[in-house]
Amino acid sequence: MSTNGASAPAPLGLLAELTHRCPLGCPYCSNPLALDPRSDELDAATWARVFREASALGVLQVHLSGGEPAARRDLPEIVKAARDANLYSNLITSAVGLTAEGLSKLADAGLDHVQISIQDSEPASADHIAGYKGASARKHALAAEVVRLGLPLTVNVVVHRANIARVEAMVEMALALGATRVEIAHVQYYGWALKNRAALMPSRAQVEEAVGIVERLRQAHRGRIVIDAVIPDYYARFPKPCVGGWGRRSLNVTPAGRVLPCHAAEVIPGLEFWNVRAHTLADIWRSSPAFEAFRGTDWMQEPCKSCALKEKDFGGCRCQAFLLAGDARAADPVCHLSPHHATVERLAGERADAAYAYRHS
Ligand code: FES
Repeated sequence: MSTNGASAPAPLGLLAELTHRCPLGCPYCSNPLALDPRSDELDAATWARVFREASALGVLQVHLSGGEPAARRDLPEIVKAARDANLYSNLITSAVGLTAEGLSKLADAGLDHVQISIQDSEPASADHIAGYKGASARKHALAAEVVRLGLPLTVNVVVHRANIARVEAMVEMALALGATRVEIAHVQYYGWALKNRAALMPSRAQVEEAVGIVERLRQAHRGRIVIDAVIPDYYARFPKPCVGGWGRRSLNVTPAGRVLPCHAAEVIPGLEFWNVRAHTLADIWRSSPAFEAFRGTDWMQEPCKSCALKEKDFGGCRCQAFLLAGDARAADPVCHLSPHHATVERLAGERADAAYAYRHS
């Protein structure tokens, strides 16, 4: 099936990157290497309009993200705007820079859900990975406040070589914090993580062991906590249906208002992104060149074009295809059928105990 914007399904989720400012410096940060400056950030009134337009378009959930969204003093106003637009709001926070009082204001404004990222179960390692002394203690304190206020809590764990041996301890930690869901996400190698790839890459043996542990924990904790986990790209045989398929499920609005089909889309040269300052969200979703570029299946080449899975994985990740194969229309090289798959295997083997290049604001 090919799809163009006019017949595209309604998006379900909007990722609102409220700011790129962040006190942490995680070496796998998903923000781009060139960060939007504070002076370019959309104001709260524009976010409120974007939320109304998103709701009218069919969006159900807004993820308030960053950088660190709490770096915005007008965050309660933005949360209220999401509520007024009938969107389910999920705050994705590092928990650093958000006080108990600040959280309580967000709850009063109508916040529905909180997601806190943790870097490791060992505090010293967690602070080292975050590049921020005392980060781990603050995360524990804020998680307790989330639970005390009766808000549902998800703990987000990004796994890589320095912490993969403690997957079990991190799941136990999420349970102890009162989370109802834990997301175990292996590092995705774009942006800052690509820069730090050799320092972050686990070995195949480590990944296989972690996958087995997660499966055991899923069974052991069924009914107590939901464990979401995805196999890391570089050790998979098939690619992931990145963002649920380009222009099918979600939109990502940058702090300065550019609307992207995925958080990393700006790495692909030649794409034209429209801005909410100049267009409605509905226009952008249906007609903007960047969303149209890889929607449906007409853009595919072999081996994707004749693949039985093309409507399931949509050829994998366009950004990864560009970054590893130099062609955003190529099959994601993670796929074992890709002519570039050997590159992925070679890169997975390039591991070095180098110091992190921390992301900086
Ligand atoms: Fe852009 Fe996967 S991150 S399509």
